[in-house]
Amino acid sequence: QGGISDPGLITLVNKLQDVFTTVGVQNPIDLPQIVVVGSQSSGKSSVLENIVGRDFLPRGTGIVTRRPLVLQLINRPAAAPKANGVKEEIAAGADKEANVDEWGEFLHIPGQKFHDFNKIRDEIVKETEAKTGRNAGISPAPINLRIYSPHVLTLTLVDLPGLTKVPVGDQPRDIERQIKEMVLKQISKPNAIILAVTGANTDLANSDGLKLAREVDPEGQRTIGVLTKVDLMDDGTDVVDILAGRIIPLRLGYVPVVNRGQRDIDNKKAIASALENEKSFFENHKAYRNKSSYCGTPYLARKLNLILMMHIKQTLPDIKARISASLQKYTTELQGLGDQMLGNSANIVLNIITEFTNEWRTVLEGNSTELSSIEL
Ligand code: GDP
Ligand code: NA
Ligand code: MG
Repeated sequence: QGGISDPGLITLVNKLQDVFTTVGVQNPIDLPQIVVVGSQSSGKSSVLENIVGRDFLPRGTGIVTRRPLVLQLINRPAAAPKANGVKEEIAAGADKEANVDEWGEFLHIPGQKFHDFNKIRDEIVKETEAKTGRNAGISPAPINLRIYSPHVLTLTLVDLPGLTKVPVGDQPRDIERQIKEMVLKQISKPNAIILAVTGANTDLANSDGLKLAREVDPEGQRTIGVLTKVDLMDDGTDVVDILAGRIIPLRLGYVPVVNRGQRDIDNKKAIASALENEKSFFENHKAYRNKSSYCGTPYLARKLNLILMMHIKQTLPDIKARISASLQKYTTELQGLGDQMLGNSANIVLNIITEFTNEWRTVLEGNSTELSSIEL
């Protein structure tokens, strides 16, 4: 798959995303990203973990994802093993799962590498509660997590709270509306690619994810369907008609997957063996075996990587124009503020804008060749 991943382009968009989060501005230039939607328990977390190849997302009943998780996957070749190298240092540590070639970093904890993916999960929970309290609300403030690994394709995915109907515990009464609004806000941006997750054992026409997607993308131009739980379908039924576009057609199509069931998770089944199961499921099933290369998580990841790249290339001229416009606007504001010696709060604002403008420039200048050399 050489050449497909093109990490440079996606990395540039990742940097811009970080700038916005750092200064608390919400994506004013509408960066291309893949947004995951679907009802609660449709399998969103399972799909994301299978794409990453690691367990790292909080699980449980109720609304577990309560802030958007901007998940930036970055492909990075494995380091050559060294005598007395870091590999041994980490292997000697307490955590058996630790792997020197794979780690996570949170934007809100700069410089700290999480080699233990259980600690990544703990940090997501902690950071979620920091903003939203224990069991109650949701917050639109994103958590930005970067995962570096030789086993991922460079890709940015945004995980959102699952669509739900009934409030439980201390949840606000209007939780359904709040989640719907947050999801709509993310997917209504024309640059968002919508990853609509639906259980194959439920009726596609009732899919909450697809219903919301259709509100903002009625022609199905930027929605990709993921059908989970194909293994749970009744005997003699399959998703062939959906894949063929005969039920609800989507230009980007559907990908069927098989994730771990609840029992697999309780038994701590490794994702690697779940992915092998998935592969043999599609290769041996009579409805899918002649198209098994278009089924399953690895195909989904390659497809998403390709779609995201093509999408970024298409939207690049527009992004460039809007970056320049924002830069100008902030520079003008900066100059305006600089003239008046105001109090403390003005200084804070001034610092934020300076930082913003500087990061902006770094991203622009550092990538100007890349930006202008891309064929559109
Ligand atoms: P989310 O709420 O959308 O994030 O859903 P989860 O990924 O947490 O999955 C909800 C439940 O469905 C869990 O018990 C999973 O084990 C199960 N599940 C998800 N995908 C599949 C699948 O493809 N097959 C089976 N058998 N179970 C699945
Ligand atoms: Na759904
Ligand atoms: Mg989930």
